[in-house]
Parts: sequence; structure tokens; C-alpha cells
Amino acid sequence: MTKKSVFKDGSGARKGFVSEFQDDIETRDNSKNNTSKVKNKIINKSSENMKEIVDNCVALTITSPPYNIGKLSDVEMSDKDYWKMVEKCFKEVYRVTESGGRLVVNVANLGRKPYIPFSDKYTELLISLGFIMRGEIIWQKSKGANANFAWGSWLSASNPVIRDIHEYCLVFSKDSMTKASKGVSTIEKEEFMDSTLSIWNIPPARAKKIGHPAPYPTELVERFIKLYTYEGELVLDPFIGSGTTAIGALNLNRNYLGYETNEEYIKLANKRIKEETN
Ligand SMILES: C[S@@+](CC[C@H](N)C(=O)[O-])C[C@H]1O[C@@H](n2cnc3c(N)ncnc32)[C@H](O)[C@@H]1O
Repeated sequence: MTKKSVFKDGSGARKGFVSEFQDDIETRDNSKNNTSKVKNKIINKSSENMKEIVDNCVALTITSPPYNIGKLSDVEMSDKDYWKMVEKCFKEVYRVTESGGRLVVNVANLGRKPYIPFSDKYTELLISLGFIMRGEIIWQKSKGANANFAWGSWLSASNPVIRDIHEYCLVFSKDSMTKASKGVSTIEKEEFMDSTLSIWNIPPARAKKIGHPAPYPTELVERFIKLYTYEGELVLDPFIGSGTTAIGALNLNRNYLGYETNEEYIKLANKRIKEETN
């Protein structure tokens, strides 16, 4: 089935976006959850093919995908190729996710002329691949005092510009909202109450200090891991960058697997994993 995108003629890299995500979804028997033999490593290749991981073994995927736009761009490809690549990666995420397993995708909306609702595109893609949406966390990154100063027209209705101080974390399940596996949760009462609210206040990670252009904070990852996994379960990041997901997983006694195409980032991630885990 080919659906036209809800997005009109976008600008820059998003121009002419047409969703064909619904095509060619494989039907599989997801009834049996497996255990992965490979764990706690970062694999240096594209996550378009994750043949190292067996079907139905990942309890939680948490990731922030690469952007194909502006200074955060870590891939240089046409808009069509970008979405093809991303679709392949998330089809693989679907395959390796256990029944009742979860997926969290962190994305920001981008651009101003016009504004590009990147998060909507991801939601459309992931639902079309078979994921069931659980909700959306607004990750508030600042209170506003340090937000960017590009007001547009200052104190004038001519063209005041909205300055985003948030990103999205889109949350999905495979097959069922309830986990099929049993295990030990490690979340405390206060954390549970905070983490089940739809707005989270967490300061951003410092890109310069970490040495990667777009890291997310360990606290963000840890909150999702505590909320959605039991101890010892497997957490996947198909775009692991500087290794934040691995750090969160190990610090909470979970296992991780990561994919990353850039060798320098893998070196950086392994260094951080050594230095920042218990
Ligand atoms: C937004 S960053 C992730 C940052 C990560 N969350 C962190 O805290 O450091 C996306 C990463 O995906 C990597 N990447 C791009 N295309 C990829 C692909 N096809 N497979 C695996 N990694 C890829 C980029 O090199 C980049 O490091």
C-alpha cells in the first residue's frame, strides 16, 4: 500500500517525502522470545542488517537516529535514500524485539522555514512497520533562560519565531502493551511516579565535552531502562554514537548491543563505557 505523506512540500532534505513504509512487512511468528548469545558489544556496521541478533530477543531499543539535515547531519544522502535506510533499520529493530518489548525513539523537530515535524514522520513510519504506540514523552531540555536567541522579530508580530526547548521520545511496543517475560524491576516509587508523566525535565548532554555532535544524556536513557526493562535484559541501540545507551544499560545491570558506522565514535564509546560504568 502506498500512502501519501501528510507532509506537504517540505524544504531542504525533507522535500518531496512520500511514505511507502507500509509495503513489504514480513509476517513472522513472534510467539517465542529468545536469548541473544551476543551481548555487550558495539558492532561496526550499518544497522540496516542486524543478522548478528536472533529474532525476538531485545527487551528495549532506545536510540536517537541520525539526521539528514543541517549541522547535525551524520549521513549524506538524498531524502528518499535516508528514509529507505531508516526504514530498513527499524524493520530489523522490529524483528529482534521480543513480544511485548519496547522501542523508544528520541527525535527533535527541525527547521523554521518551514518547521519540519520529524517526530510525526517517525511516528508514521514506526506504526506502519507494526509497532503499537504507547505514548510520547516531551523531553524538556531547558527552562528557557538558555534557549537560543533567534527571536525572529523582537517584540513585534511581524515574525516572532518559536524557540524549541524540547525534543520528543516516541514510545512503542511490539505485539502487546504488556511484557511477556517475567523479571525483577529496579524502579523506586518516586521515579515511577515521575517517569510515567509525559513531560520530563532533564538537562541536555554536553556535546563538546563528550566529543560527539549529538549525544543524549545518560539520565534520559536510564529512566527508560528502569521503566521498561527487568534486570539482566537486553537493550539495543542501532545508532549508538558515543555509547550513552550502553553506559545506562551496564550501570543498571542490563546488557546492551549497539551498531555504529563511524569507527571513531566506537572508540569514543568504548572509552566512555570503561570510564563511566561501575
Ligand atoms: C544522533 S547520533 C546518536 C547519538 C547517541 N545517542 C549518543 O548518545 O551518543 C546517530 C549516530 O548514528 C550513526 N549512524 C548513522 N547511520 C548509521 C547506520 N546506518 N547504522 C548505524 N549507525 C549509524 C552516526 O554515526 C551517529 O553516531
